[in-house]
Amino acid sequence: MAETDRLRWDDRYAGRAGAVAGLPQLFARYADAFPTAGLALDVACGPGAVSAWLAGRGLTVLGVDVSPVAVEQARQLAASTGVGDRCRFEVADLDEGLPPGPRADVIVCHLFRDPRLYPAILSRLAPGGLLAIAVLSEVGAAPGGFRARAGELVAAFACLDTVASGEGGGEAWLLARSKGDR
Ligand SMILES: C[S@@+](CC[C@H](N)C(=O)[O-])C[C@H]1O[C@@H](n2cnc3c(N)ncnc32)[C@H](O)[C@@H]1O
Repeated sequence: MAETDRLRWDDRYAGRAGAVAGLPQLFARYADAFPTAGLALDVACGPGAVSAWLAGRGLTVLGVDVSPVAVEQARQLAASTGVGDRCRFEVADLDEGLPPGPRADVIVCHLFRDPRLYPAILSRLAPGGLLAIAVLSEVGAAPGGFRARAGELVAAFACLDTVASGEGGGEAWLLARSKGDR
């Protein structure tokens, strides 16, 4: 990622109030589908709202984001909600791929889209693991280079068992489970 883009994210986060731990609204009604133990990966974690929620549920979490400001906010949120010991956050540029690590029982990728990462996300998912991904979509919005084409998520993750999915209003999302036992 260009340094100017990273600085833009830093600026955006620097001016914001702290995040509150929680699942994004899209996934909140499926909260019970998320495991209560194991390893979670929060891709482009931002200020760590989902990471802190996952850790509060019992998972050990790695969150990665290109913005050092967001990562610092994520560390503070985890500490202030009492889950700092179950969270680790790394500054990483996902343009260079997913940072290496073990397979995850949960992967969350909320409002960050890079189709080049889809194969790496798939192979990082442990057997029986849960993927929760939401991206901006062209469905219900004007076409744009950073928006998913119609059916993109369902096609990219067709080898998973879909728990629920949706597309419309400019967003696409998928909750799906890898085949096999945890
Ligand atoms: C719309 S925010 C979503 C943040 C978080 N997932 C959430 O739902 O609150 C997009 C995030 O992607 C991060 N991001 C953008 N490009 C990135 C890249 N190349 N590598 C890592 N993170 C990136 C930004 O810093 C930002 O935190």
